Amino acid sequence: MVEERLVSREIHLRQRPFGIPTEHNFQLVKINIPDLKVGEFLVRNLWMSVDPYMRGRMREIRSYISPFEIGKPLEGGCIGQIIKSNNDQFKVGDYVLGNLGWREYWLSDSTESDVTKIDSNMAPLQWYLGILGLTGLTAYVGLLKIAQLVDNSNSTVFVSAAAGAVGSMACQIAKIKGCRVIGSAGSHEKVKWLLDQVGIDHAFNYKEVGENNLSAELGKSCPDGIDIYFDNVGGKHLEGAIDNMKTFGRIVLCGMISQYNLTSTPIGPSNIFIAVPNRLKLQGFIVRDHYDMLNEFYAEIYKWISERKIKWRETVFEGIENAPKAFLSLFKGENIGKMLVKVGL
Ligand SMILES: NC(=O)c1ccc[n+]([C@@H]2O[C@H](COP(=O)([O-])OP(=O)(O)OC[C@H]3O[C@@H](n4cnc5c(N)ncnc54)[C@H](OP(=O)(O)O)[C@@H]3O)[C@@H](O)[C@H]2O)c1
Repeated sequence: MVEERLVSREIHLRQRPFGIPTEHNFQLVKINIPDLKVGEFLVRNLWMSVDPYMRGRMREIRSYISPFEIGKPLEGGCIGQIIKSNNDQFKVGDYVLGNLGWREYWLSDSTESDVTKIDSNMAPLQWYLGILGLTGLTAYVGLLKIAQLVDNSNSTVFVSAAAGAVGSMACQIAKIKGCRVIGSAGSHEKVKWLLDQVGIDHAFNYKEVGENNLSAELGKSCPDGIDIYFDNVGGKHLEGAIDNMKTFGRIVLCGMISQYNLTSTPIGPSNIFIAVPNRLKLQGFIVRDHYDMLNEFYAEIYKWISERKIKWRETVFEGIENAPKAFLSLFKGENIGKMLVKVGL
């Protein structure tokens, strides 16, 4: 009897977005999974991550990571389970972390360097895409390595997109390290969560404040100035922070989501000249350059989780067909904590 071919649904880039992406930029495509060759294994995705950086990969520009190709499936962090295997190292039933999200099934072989086995007994599987994954590591590297935050420095730390995945982790790591933490977010519900659950010292809704009043708002909430600004947003947030930095303050350029959908070259912060007399340090970073900190990060994060020091939240869309919606929602601020897609059960 001939075995029926397994069909996988995947999301392709139909066309490159101009400005804010829409569902029209994506296409749901069905493909047949080929037979397994020697050394290959077949993974059924359970979870996938959608991330703001993927917007950058939709442009055809030279960057630290190659652009997505039109007519090809998108890629990104995913967690799956092996359902067939011709590879002794990867057994049926194993859970793996890979980079072939945006699809229901994928084939890999032992040469696939992007596949890591994960232990389903240690934590909920999807945490490896968030608190225990690149999200957590980004916040950790940004604060400890880039901003050189040390324990009990009594620093004032301002975090933008504070109720998002990286932002909420950055807020909590800074609190654990003894800082006074101020966060900005785009809704009343997010501000309330940051104050009541995450436990930061002050939070404000930047949409209510208005982008031209951010500098004055930060002046009120940080009267003695900001030591560290963890920038996830760029634009007027960055400008407002520069106005309020202490001498020798550090600005961690983690991301600039307010700029990702602009259709013309953005004008830089108009007050950047203040960086000179105030001896500010502004440094961008990409988390993938800092995997050397993974072991240190794991040791700390597992300890903090066991001590119940971290509040972790997820916003979940179900089904591969809803992955574009989940991605687009990041730019509307519809997530609290990490945005994820549950691809299978
Ligand atoms: N450097 C690295 O290696 C690295 C790694 C991971 C992520 N990142 C960057 O870190 C930032 C956060 O990423 P994430 O994965 O944690 O996403 P996230 O913060 O969970 O989600 C994105 C959030 O950005 C906010 N936002 C969207 N458009 C905005 C705008 N025009 N102005 C201000 N805020 C806006 C929204 O929250 P509001 O409701 O508050 O607007 C939204 O919920 C992004 O800039 C990302 O590119 C960098």
